[in-house]
Amino acid sequence: MEGSQIMAFAQVSWERRRFGQTLRRDRWWVSPLLVFLGLSAFVVYTTWAAFQGKNYYYGPYLSPFYSPELFGDSPHAWFGPKPAWWFSWLPWSPALLILPFPGLFRLTCYYYRGAYYKAFWADPPSCTVGEPRKLYLGERHFPLILHNVHRYFLYVALLFLILLAHDVWKALWFADASGRERFGIGLGTVILAANVFFLGCYALGCHSLRHLVGGRFDMLSAFRAKSYDCVSCLNSKHQRWAWFSLFSVGISDIYIRLCASGVITDWRIL
Ligand code: FES
Repeated sequence: MEGSQIMAFAQVSWERRRFGQTLRRDRWWVSPLLVFLGLSAFVVYTTWAAFQGKNYYYGPYLSPFYSPELFGDSPHAWFGPKPAWWFSWLPWSPALLILPFPGLFRLTCYYYRGAYYKAFWADPPSCTVGEPRKLYLGERHFPLILHNVHRYFLYVALLFLILLAHDVWKALWFADASGRERFGIGLGTVILAANVFFLGCYALGCHSLRHLVGGRFDMLSAFRAKSYDCVSCLNSKHQRWAWFSLFSVGISDIYIRLCASGVITDWRIL
């Protein structure tokens, strides 16, 4: 037999690992633990902030948790105060009309799905680490098959991106003592602008957008090919943008909330 044709065989016994059992020697548990802590903290804070219903705007600043403010008491509200049809059993807050959309966009995001399957469901806790379940149904069955709506939430997310960019424009105009609006830049303006930048890098790197832009075509026009490259470039760092944008949206709300409640004063740069 020629040397190049010699093949090595090894006896490999296949047996199901117990939950948490692995041959890995690295600290595989650090990543899911950090994801668990980070997402838990964000969900707890967001839920608390959403039910406050106050201190969500300050001068020209509007918290992204409450934008667009469809109904509410602030000057940013589109259609006036709390609607008469609001459910009597549910505390009123303008954020409750808004947050389900970005929330479901993130919940169905391909990156977050992989992250919270590991961190919250241990399914599996990490690659080659034993999981607690014996049955694997994947995402082809209810309820996980509902993740397929992600592409539709992408359209909503892109609309929100435009509205948040408009909020940054409004955050450049401050009322003076006579009530006239004058151009200016505050730290809040910078924070809101950074938030739109990070959200843009996150949403424009969406896997579904990549598919929409170039995935269905055999030939791409020059413009489409360039767009596909841009989306792919952002997509290659999707995890990073997912976390940066999560932090930036939370920091935006915290900053405006602290200004509105009088704990700090907005720093006017210009
Ligand atoms: Fe993450 Fe679409 S895959 S935003």
